Amino acid sequence: MLSGEAMTVLNARYLREGETPEKMFWRVAEYVAEAEAFHGGDKQAACQEYYDIMAGLEFLPNSPTLMNAGRKQAQMAACFVLPVDDSLGDIFDTLKHAALIHQSGGGTGFSFSRIRPKGDRISGTNGLASGPVSFLHVYDAATEVVRQGAVRRGANMAVLRVDHPDIEEFITVKRDRTVLNNFNLSVGITDAFMAAVAQDRSFALVHPRTGRTVRQVPARRLFDLMAAMAWENGEPGLFFLDTVNRANPTPHLGIFEAPNPCSEQPLLAYESCVLGSVNLAKMVAADGQGLDYDRLSGVVRRAVRFLDNVIDRNWYPLPAVAEATLRTRKIGLGIMGLADLFIMLDIPYGSKQAVLLTADIMRFITAEARRESARLAAKRGPFPAYPGSIYEHSIGPVRNATVTTIAPTGTISIIANCSSGIEPLFALAFSRHVLGGQVLASINPTVLAYLDKRGLLTADVEEAIKRQGSVRNTGLAYHVKQVLATAHEIRPVWHVAHLAAAQRYTDNAVSKTVNLPHKVTPQDVARIFSLAYRSGCKGVTVYRDGSRNQQVLVQGVAA
Ligand code: CDP
Repeated sequence: MLSGEAMTVLNARYLREGETPEKMFWRVAEYVAEAEAFHGGDKQAACQEYYDIMAGLEFLPNSPTLMNAGRKQAQMAACFVLPVDDSLGDIFDTLKHAALIHQSGGGTGFSFSRIRPKGDRISGTNGLASGPVSFLHVYDAATEVVRQGAVRRGANMAVLRVDHPDIEEFITVKRDRTVLNNFNLSVGITDAFMAAVAQDRSFALVHPRTGRTVRQVPARRLFDLMAAMAWENGEPGLFFLDTVNRANPTPHLGIFEAPNPCSEQPLLAYESCVLGSVNLAKMVAADGQGLDYDRLSGVVRRAVRFLDNVIDRNWYPLPAVAEATLRTRKIGLGIMGLADLFIMLDIPYGSKQAVLLTADIMRFITAEARRESARLAAKRGPFPAYPGSIYEHSIGPVRNATVTTIAPTGTISIIANCSSGIEPLFALAFSRHVLGGQVLASINPTVLAYLDKRGLLTADVEEAIKRQGSVRNTGLAYHVKQVLATAHEIRPVWHVAHLAAAQRYTDNAVSKTVNLPHKVTPQDVARIFSLAYRSGCKGVTVYRDGSRNQQVLVQGVAA
């Protein structure tokens, strides 16, 4: 049932002493289904349903759920956001909280925007402030140490607003590639900044405490600096603050300042969110002509109940996290295996048809998930902060303030043996460095099946795939090369198109890297950033092929 790669990953971190994958899925199903009992539901039936969708690899929850369900401290959420205020006590309190969250298997996002800039006077001591970037290094060092005892390596996101006086230092800090390896960095971009860039105006950097203008900088110079750094190193990403906050379902509770580590989940201070993903490669209709939407609907409904139950069965690492999470009951159901689905349906990822399908799928999933959340609300009540939420004057009571998120699915897609999230295939054959150095090699089974079915799997083609991870230099027909095009062969605008199409119908955000060929210029990166903003994305991250020394995914299997 499970691939060799999946077994390697499961054995390394997920399975307990003597546990088989089947037992793991039972452990998770039973533990989560227990919530049905206190909501007056049928626990046994729910348990069987959860087991079936997980063991059938149709749906998997995020890693912390698979790892921790059934433990004494069953912390099952992947995503957290913590507030960082401008005092030493607050900064170190939050660091302690982050350490506890990492220890439990969660990732943390922070905004450092409230911290006073470097060189600012500190009134009590007459000393000079060291600025947000200096505290980033402290957080990074702490993460490095805690990671040894944690179930997995701690991951962090730091956001700094584009109008913070230390923004240039933040944008360029990772030029030194030895620092902040436990952090992803994103600049918090405002509409005002994008307008200043478009009009080539100067832009005010303001003191976060006093609101006074510290300096004026040409907006475009700042934007080009971000593009140049992202071109060089893949960072910073952009996080579009105003776009994100326009979609805030509970504005009466606060604003979004940062997302979780991989950017797919903007959260209010202390909120956590549990994610889960439907494997689209398992949703192809029997005639192979499209999706089996009835089946997809069934899986989505069960997945929503599952994730809502996780909230009740969860162990929360901090009282503030319990309080914030239980107030909004956000869940994040997403997809993986999208690239596999396109290949199975013989559609190129870089095509209008594929982009429309991405939008259709997410529109369907969000609508079905919302309906299920409304059904749950009818039985269990809406989320407590429902009064004052956007739902109060629109669709009425729902159990969860958000229902959909598209996660990277870095590990669960390996377990499900499908392509990750909404990413195209990175290579048709690849070796992966995972879990601290092991190399896993494989040739993509969807690709093999596609070629085999059409009688195209010649020795030459197989050899090309193994050597280059691509069919680019083979004699295969143009259409076949389009269908099997890898991430760097697909034009960047198609990456943005999928990101935007998915975002349009996703409550939270979408994790996706816009992969760029090595030869693009920093100006191309700037254009991608603008395009992502204009098309309504909540954030964007680029990666230029070969720009980092050690890549997570290496194209081609070493021959
Ligand atoms: O596939 P899996 O459930 O393991 O995780 P993912 O979809 O790749 O990542 C989802 C989220 O889990 C990330 O955005 C982080 O919030 C968190 N994460 C983490 O904290 N530490 C990691 N090493 C990987 C992911």
